[in-house]
Amino acid sequence: MPTAMPPEGATTLDALRRAAATCTGCDLYKRATQTVFGEGNSRASIMLIGEQPGHEEDLAGRPFVGPAGRLLDKALAQAGLDSRQVYVTNIVKHFKWKSQEGGKRRIHEKPGRSEVEACRPWFDKELWLVQPEVLVCLGATAAAAILGPAVRVGTARGRALPSPQGIRTFVTVHPSAILRIPDDAERTAAMRRFVADLRRAIRAARRPPRATRARRSPATPRRAAR
Ligand code: URA
Repeated sequence: MPTAMPPEGATTLDALRRAAATCTGCDLYKRATQTVFGEGNSRASIMLIGEQPGHEEDLAGRPFVGPAGRLLDKALAQAGLDSRQVYVTNIVKHFKWKSQEGGKRRIHEKPGRSEVEACRPWFDKELWLVQPEVLVCLGATAAAAILGPAVRVGTARGRALPSPQGIRTFVTVHPSAILRIPDDAERTAAMRRFVADLRRAIRAARRPPRATRARRSPATPRRAAR
């Protein structure tokens, strides 16, 4: 199966972003405008992981700049965090879409497992470079990619889970799922729960993981402890 191959020499996020721009690791590049790489604070303690760029992200070349991103920014602000303090990325970095209304509209299409796997090396290297304290999976695709296919957002949300990467991981809904709720009261309640999930992740990011809490001296910088 074809897969992305980040060059060994790409040891900064900028170098990785440049390399990802020409990725042909799966077929999605053929219909997407461009690779949409992660962005934000390269030393963030929280990394937020979405599924794939949407229509607006594909055109702008930046993650979470469309309606879901605006809702995410609002939720982060309500949770007490500036979106500039986090690193935001997607598990798949090209927009997968189908056309609707005779080609007038591009509609999001869920990426398949092979596309998630093909794109994975970019994410793994991104994670290795940012070294966040906490991961937040936004929706089922990111959660399955990080924690395995058995994970369910409804039951997994609200608490820190150990991930295979050894990073405390939170699962919550995808912001676009909140946008799709037609009833105002239900949408407001869903937003409240989303903000509460983000608050838990923020609190966890401010605390070192249990295993290292006793061992790490107060003067030890976060990165040196890894
Ligand atoms: N949805 C995502 O999962 N990621 C984006 O960047 C935009 C919408």
